[in-house]
Amino acid sequence: MEQAQANIGVVGLAAMGSNLARNLAHHGNTVALYNRHYSRTQTLMDEHGDEGNFVPTKTIEEFVASLAKPRTAIIMVKAGAPTDAVINELADAMDEGDIIVDGGNAYFPDTIRREKEIRARGLHFVGCGVSGGEEGALRGPSMMPGGTEESWKTLGPILRSIAAVAEGEPCVTHIGENGAGHFVKMVHNGIEYADMQLIAESYDLMRRGLGMSASEIGDVFEKWNEGVLNSYLIEITAEVLHQKDHATGKALVDVILDHAGMKGTGTWTVQTALSLATPVTGIAEAVFARGLSSQSVQREEALSQAMSGPDTHISIAEEEKAAFIEDIREALYASKIVAYAQGFDEINAGAQEYDWNIDLAAVARIWRGGCIIRAQFLNRVSEAFESGEANISLLFASYFKNAINQAQDSWRRVVARAAMNGIPVPAFSSSLSYYDGLRSDRLPAALIQGQRDLFGAHTYKRVDKEGTFHTLWAQEGRPEIQED
Ligand code: 6PG
Repeated sequence: MEQAQANIGVVGLAAMGSNLARNLAHHGNTVALYNRHYSRTQTLMDEHGDEGNFVPTKTIEEFVASLAKPRTAIIMVKAGAPTDAVINELADAMDEGDIIVDGGNAYFPDTIRREKEIRARGLHFVGCGVSGGEEGALRGPSMMPGGTEESWKTLGPILRSIAAVAEGEPCVTHIGENGAGHFVKMVHNGIEYADMQLIAESYDLMRRGLGMSASEIGDVFEKWNEGVLNSYLIEITAEVLHQKDHATGKALVDVILDHAGMKGTGTWTVQTALSLATPVTGIAEAVFARGLSSQSVQREEALSQAMSGPDTHISIAEEEKAAFIEDIREALYASKIVAYAQGFDEINAGAQEYDWNIDLAAVARIWRGGCIIRAQFLNRVSEAFESGEANISLLFASYFKNAINQAQDSWRRVVARAAMNGIPVPAFSSSLSYYDGLRSDRLPAALIQGQRDLFGAHTYKRVDKEGTFHTLWAQEGRPEIQED
């Protein structure tokens, strides 16, 4: 039997797994490798075996035996059944105190269940969100581990060694017990969906609304990236828009089919938010917009029936164009603030529901580097949580309150103009409606309460009296009775 020599192991050597293994090796770790089909392990050894210390293994037993205690193994396999299968194989071969880390995009209730099962067997189970794609896994991801404090003692130094670094700090922190890490990663992805949708709406307004070319719009995003919107997603948007299609010579984006895919994390974010009664309207609209884009049958039918609507071309004087583009930038910034505020609300609600002690400022800090939503303004977000100004909502922190205040006229012009020209802006408009809903002194919810009481005797409260009331709607004089 091989001498235990690796301080960490990786199971699952597809793109993310092998890059994470290489990153670990680059930082002085001795990394045990296992993949169901040995050919992938062989490929990694052939192509990158000289980059550090690897221990390739052919069976789970050999893999586990090659790990020094407490044994720590990171699983990078497909979420769902494949993850359960590997966890069980590992747990069977491991001993008390060993640590199994799931680095995939698992659904957090699965992580809560797995942690409970594995803990009952005397092992640690850590659900760890890993963001940054393949490149991040290799050069430094942002990581969101859950699990016990005890497991963090072993895992922390290893993860810190490979994380992205932002403002001198590694982009990893212990998020909280059991499923907290995967919960936060899920919301990260939800925010990612909203961010991408808002960028897409901005692009659409310029492409169809102002008739600009993809590359002209790419220039605009490049410029925006120099200001408050500075972020990875804005940066790559410029890159995508500048890309030419070699086959046709057209802008690549113009020949990509307009059906957005999704693997499920955005949907989970919205489903969870619904069950926590937390309105994440921007994220929800972003998920639904991807759904609508892929509804080929309905979209084709709508086209063939020539459903009526205004010309999407926004006719404004050439000299007003720059001002409108600036309006779009402001609308994007304001809506983005709302999307982040809603995402953090969901994390807060999840922490209360599942009894996690999540430091929101720390979450904002570890999102500043390595992950897909990394953005300069996350410095401001972390400051807002640190100062306590964002305790109720990020929207009340003075920096963001002022930013929205400054942006709101532009935001309203953009939403109104888009509606007049028939350009869909679900994320812009739902974020604005959320903002207006929040600041309303009186909402039409009063009417809904009246309707509910009429058809279902669901009762209502009054603005002028304590207690719960029900009106005998069908009776003469509509008498009201107090229920308690
Ligand atoms: C990340 C990404 C990553 C992945 C998403 C994309 O943080 O590195 O979010 O998790 O790219 O799964 O999700 P969709 O395929 O659903 O867009």
